[in-house]
Amino acid sequence: MSLLRKKDLLTLQQSEQKSELKKTLGTFQLTMMGIGAIIGTGIFVLTGVVAAEKAGPAIMLSFVISAIVCMLAALCYAEFASTIPVSGSAYTYGYAVFGELPGWILGWALILEYGLACASVASGWSGYFQGLLADSKMHIHLPAAISNAFDPAHGHYIDLPAIVIICVLVLILSAGAKESATLNTFMVILKLAVVVLFIVLGFRHVDPANWHPFMPYHFSGVTAGAATVFFAYLGFDAVTTAAEEVKNPQKSLPIALITSLLVCSLLYLVVSAILTGIVPYTDLDVKNPVSFAFEYIGMKWAAGFISAGSIIGITTVLLVMLYGQIRLLYSIGRDGLLPRVFSQVSAKTQTPVKGGWISAAVISIFAGFIPLGHLVDLTNIGTFFAFIVVSAGILILRKKYPDLPRSFKVPFVPFTPILAILACGYLMTQLTLITWIGFIVWMVIGLALYFLYGYRHSLLNNKSN
Ligand code: ALA
Repeated sequence: MSLLRKKDLLTLQQSEQKSELKKTLGTFQLTMMGIGAIIGTGIFVLTGVVAAEKAGPAIMLSFVISAIVCMLAALCYAEFASTIPVSGSAYTYGYAVFGELPGWILGWALILEYGLACASVASGWSGYFQGLLADSKMHIHLPAAISNAFDPAHGHYIDLPAIVIICVLVLILSAGAKESATLNTFMVILKLAVVVLFIVLGFRHVDPANWHPFMPYHFSGVTAGAATVFFAYLGFDAVTTAAEEVKNPQKSLPIALITSLLVCSLLYLVVSAILTGIVPYTDLDVKNPVSFAFEYIGMKWAAGFISAGSIIGITTVLLVMLYGQIRLLYSIGRDGLLPRVFSQVSAKTQTPVKGGWISAAVISIFAGFIPLGHLVDLTNIGTFFAFIVVSAGILILRKKYPDLPRSFKVPFVPFTPILAILACGYLMTQLTLITWIGFIVWMVIGLALYFLYGYRHSLLNNKSN
């Protein structure tokens, strides 16, 4: 039963006040962090391939289905965040409600989500950045050997731009949560401006004939598309890892989670409608569909502007996901399930600086050396899993702790969490066998780590001795 030893919920509620981290973030900055983490490679890169190969113009429906699934899960996250406003997000919720081992498994799934998302987004960033350098007036081409993941047969050894951007962002994050959030807000405003520019300029060039046939790959294509474009929504949950740095987390977290998701869902629906309205879906199989659409209609200046905006957009995803990863490791380290070095806070900046650099090193190895093109679905499966457990957690929270104070409640319990579980479970079944195998291997590694290290070093273990 010690595998299910739990943290006391009441103590957790109070521990938020005693955190070593500095409380600087407000609702607006948090919402901007949510949007910062959400809009990125999903819309700027994935949309094209999914429209061309899976869903056709009905990718709009794929976005709607994914948005509904995320909203159901976001409501559950919001209730947890308003009940247990402590760093660590789903890991902490799972630890308190289900016990240590399930909590660790959830944390391990989140490490997969944030770590892999960071690594693949960093290689996407590198691709966009090199494209911009090459297209600029200076026509700069970085040597292939240092600008691609390891592939000696083609003379590729390391993706240096991907590693450099990770290190620069960790440096910024080490300066403090407030400084990082301010920079993020500025970049998110630029990113939103680019998306709105696309909508305003693209709208007039839509040819409704391009929306026929609407569902060339049938409804099964739409749901398979939904399971992949789900990636475009990932990141809103990273906001909840900020809990201990928020001035009024019980109020701000639910608002930020739900607002950022609503804004992005609406933008995605409109962008995907315009994109497939401008370019026939069969031509959308490109890496940069959004700027490509403007090249397609001969507006080269707008295409360049959108490429630059995409880079800024992808940078904020990386910034917030890295932040989420570092805060998650901080929480797990503080509980003793990972080495304590992850939870050491710098006296000067009141941020976990050492944990940040260890995360940067590990993520750099993935981003710099491993070709990551096909890992998007692996990131998704880890997140679906986390969403399912968080939603199930709400059912238990309501049953076991009905009177615990909370400022936000999921409407229509038990239907909403049950629907979230079923919807995430269904989308999981739409992923390929190889994705499932990758996920199971990751979980086996996680279990081994727990039994070899976490179980013995857990703070709760020391307490029971
Ligand atoms: N939602 C993030 C993106 O689309 C992960 O890049």
